[in-house]
Amino acid sequence: MPILALQDVSKDYLSDGQRVQALHGLSLNVERGEMVALVGRSGCGKSTLLNLAGAMDFPTTGSVLLDGVSTSSLKDEELTRLRREKVGFIFQSFQLLHTLTVFENVELPLLLAGKTNVREAACERLAWVELEGLGERYPHQLSGGQMQRAAIARALIHSPIIVLADEPTGNLDTTTGNVILELLLRLTHEKNIATVVATHSLEAAALADTVVRLRDGRIEEITRR
Ligand SMILES: Nc1ncnc2c1ncn2[C@@H]1O[C@H](COP(=O)(O)OP(=O)(O)O)[C@@H](O)[C@H]1O
Ligand SMILES: [Mg+2]
Repeated sequence: MPILALQDVSKDYLSDGQRVQALHGLSLNVERGEMVALVGRSGCGKSTLLNLAGAMDFPTTGSVLLDGVSTSSLKDEELTRLRREKVGFIFQSFQLLHTLTVFENVELPLLLAGKTNVREAACERLAWVELEGLGERYPHQLSGGQMQRAAIARALIHSPIIVLADEPTGNLDTTTGNVILELLLRLTHEKNIATVVATHSLEAAALADTVVRLRDGRIEEITRR
């Protein structure tokens, strides 16, 4: 069973009384241990697809199945639990809290879920992203690439089954961005996670196991390595 299944998904937005069709009848499966890159020009529907995949929003028609469960069928508490336990998010702007140390940023999702004794897990995740020894630093004491590594450690702290990254290299130079995508690819394989990455960079996308090219809310082409 795929971790993420989009089945004939359409998504409409209402904007100033106008209907905007962001996705049209799109179907896609993402498996464990697979990194999918979403490419296509701005406005083609990448962020919309990620929001649906993370149960942050819901399809207008069709189904989004996360670990076999339709997100549209869940009550609020079940959705909160699903996002908290099964999904990890990574953002273009890193979204680290600047008044917290790296350790505290990485631990925050566990603390918010009521867990205690979380330092060991944080140390392990920081080792995964090769930031051992930097846990006591504050975000402003890190480079951009290190900030995104910390954000990846945070996204993985609760052992999600799927990681969703919206333009995670958008604020990084090309070389650093590619290193970050290679890290995500390695973790996807090693930890057997399903990962979906929206990216502008075709070069970066070429690293992924599967490249899905979107155009005007439709899949134009799927390339598998
Ligand atoms: N909240 C929203 N309200 C209205 N229209 C939206 C909203 N979010 C996205 N859109 C529209 O949906 C389309 C797809 O947008 P988006 O998913 O953000 O694309 P991408 O991430 O590929 O740039 C665009 O036409 C965009 O303007
Ligand atoms: Mg976007």
